[in-house]
Amino acid sequence: MVRKVWFILAAALCISCGKLEIKNMLFPYAEDVNTRVAESLGWNDKAGVTTLTVPEDDYRFYACTDIHIEDSRPENFAAMVQKEKADEKSAFYLVLGDLLFGKEHMEWVDETMSAVGNDPGFVIAGNHDIFYGGWSQWLDLFHSSTYYFFVQTPSANDIYIMLDSANGTLGEKQLAWLEGVFATRRPGCRHCIVGVHTNMFRTDASQLPSTNFTLEETYRLTALFSKNNVDTVLSGHDHFRDVSVYNGVTYITLDQIKDGTSNASYMIFDMGQCVDYQFVSCK
Ligand SMILES: [Fe+2]
Repeated sequence: MVRKVWFILAAALCISCGKLEIKNMLFPYAEDVNTRVAESLGWNDKAGVTTLTVPEDDYRFYACTDIHIEDSRPENFAAMVQKEKADEKSAFYLVLGDLLFGKEHMEWVDETMSAVGNDPGFVIAGNHDIFYGGWSQWLDLFHSSTYYFFVQTPSANDIYIMLDSANGTLGEKQLAWLEGVFATRRPGCRHCIVGVHTNMFRTDASQLPSTNFTLEETYRLTALFSKNNVDTVLSGHDHFRDVSVYNGVTYITLDQIKDGTSNASYMIFDMGQCVDYQFVSCK
């Protein structure tokens, strides 16, 4: 309850100082997600599917979310990327949305990701990334927010599915695409990891309805994830960690990695026969 009150007060302050766009906070725009998904899938058709090849069946990846850039370059995020690139066991990292808090400097994320080191980062949009028309900059920098990629090990193939939930819904177009990916790409893969900004399970109502899944969509998605043997669903949005297991699927909400926050952390996943994970504090 206290978090909710603080959130509402902070949101009011941010709206008044131009950090948040009230339209997107109060109303879901399902037509926007369908437009974005069409643009993402159009890019995918041109770029093709990424497959990372790793030398052992056991490998590692890092994940973070909610960088929420304001006026300075993100130090926690840069430190995580630097550590990931120096980690020989790690193959890539995920960034689960909300790069921005205000209107500017999405390019700082791209610049950090492009700095020294080869491991790729896979990014999806959060609700803050489409405020103030941010999607057009997203397309310029990251090209897609609906895609999948594979990690090929000597004896297994893992699939990672990244979803656009920036309006608090996948929309019908993306849902149909997801069902197609599960039907045609999931079979034969060892692990399936889903990355989506919006968290499925909430410990309180700290976010506004326009950026959350409806109960009906939550039921539909969780049933789909269970039916297709998804191992883990990773999300952000709530800014506080939570681990829930529901119908055979582990749902992890990550802490934010935003600079200056007391709970800033990221995660490291060790992939092998099982999916092991740890939270790593940025302090
Ligand atoms: Fe956020």
